[in-house]
Amino acid sequence: MVTNSYTSTYWLYLLAEMVQRKHKEIETLAHRVFALNDRGNYTIPATGLYPHQWLWDSCFTAIGLRHVDAQRAAKELRSLVRGQWKNGMLPHMLLHPGDSKEFWVWQGRQHPDAPTDIATSGITQPPILAEAVWLVGQKMPKAERHSFYHAMLPKIVRYHTWLYEDRDPQNSGLVVLLHPWESGMDDSPPWITQLKRHGRPLWVKAVDFLQLDLVLAQVRRDKKYAPFGQRTDTIDNLTLYSIQRQIKRKNYETKKVLATTKFALEDLAFNAMFCKANRQLENISAEIRVPLPEKLRKNARKTESAMELFWDDEHKTYYSRSYRTKNLIRSSSIATLLPLYGGGITKKRAKELVEGLLLRPERFSTPLPIPTVPTSSSIFHSQKYWQGPVWVNMNWMIIQGLKDYGYHDEARLVRDRTLETIEIAGMREYFDPFTGHGLGGENFTWTAALALDLAHEA
Ligand code: GLC
Repeated sequence: MVTNSYTSTYWLYLLAEMVQRKHKEIETLAHRVFALNDRGNYTIPATGLYPHQWLWDSCFTAIGLRHVDAQRAAKELRSLVRGQWKNGMLPHMLLHPGDSKEFWVWQGRQHPDAPTDIATSGITQPPILAEAVWLVGQKMPKAERHSFYHAMLPKIVRYHTWLYEDRDPQNSGLVVLLHPWESGMDDSPPWITQLKRHGRPLWVKAVDFLQLDLVLAQVRRDKKYAPFGQRTDTIDNLTLYSIQRQIKRKNYETKKVLATTKFALEDLAFNAMFCKANRQLENISAEIRVPLPEKLRKNARKTESAMELFWDDEHKTYYSRSYRTKNLIRSSSIATLLPLYGGGITKKRAKELVEGLLLRPERFSTPLPIPTVPTSSSIFHSQKYWQGPVWVNMNWMIIQGLKDYGYHDEARLVRDRTLETIEIAGMREYFDPFTGHGLGGENFTWTAALALDLAHEA
């Protein structure tokens, strides 16, 4: 009896030691990445490869940074809202002063609502801001938290209101995206399918036919930082820039773009994240007792019930939808699991996602979960950008969702495998779901930040 209790105490001690050590290693690695990519008021995603401030990157960064320094995490988010347009839009990039190429590419100021004191892009990115503000605030003493929430709430309200007023012209509850970059998952299956169907202009088709992409590939900036096989195809990349130019030619005015595009999507992942963001906004408003506009609350409920429009009962999968035809784009990706994070779906749907997709080896159950595309898909590639590799922000969101729906063992498994991989492979941009090899850029900020957050939960 005595031996037994000693033995179990010993094991408990060992376990606690291991967790602590794991925690420390992740912390040391994360601190190194933060220091490398810190630009004072904000953090860039990766030195060299991504030299600007990105919208959802900074939100994920703040979620991790709050464990190190909540004031600095708050500064990261305050820096983001400097770029907010007068109409409420939060741009996906705040350009680093002095980068004339990107300045020329975007020229966000063509739109009268763009700020004049800072150069921004003209499109948005997933709405993680409310989540980040809520979580950062939870690490602050009460008075400071309330003043932070008071400062940020109006900005988030304006952003969410813009998403409804500008990006839901049919009042369906679902937000429409104009460009794959807005989804943050640039070449993921639904978008790549749309690109092939409707995106390629004649000149890109000619480049493809003449195989000039092989020459153009040589001038790609990202080739310095990651092998080609791990990045977006050059032809797809040219198409992305050509769509961006079409949007710029319409002065970033959604109505004008929607009047002609066949390309726009009601993006499943974005709308799932929007559901969560709306709920976090309600939490912030409840804590500081500042009521939200009634219309916004109504719209938020509409989005939650509209998520069912993405469900395909035949394939038991959620898909994105074409804005124009309202047809589902039956090209599956990790986005199908994000309604777990978004919340608001029934327990039955959550069970279908977990048992029918997440835990099935031919879908999402790889040695390192969770691949961004089911392994059975013809698009799946274990090393290519958003077409198979594991991205830590996706795992982080799905882990939250699994816990919310009571799948604690599954959440723990994904978290532990993610942390073990990072300890070996480092803070890479993405990872091979079969081998765990690190891919893409090195010292990637959101990997560091979210690993830190996951380690803190351990
Ligand atoms: C890539 C990713 C996007 C991210 C950006 C900066 O474009 O696809 O999600 O925000 O890099 O890290």
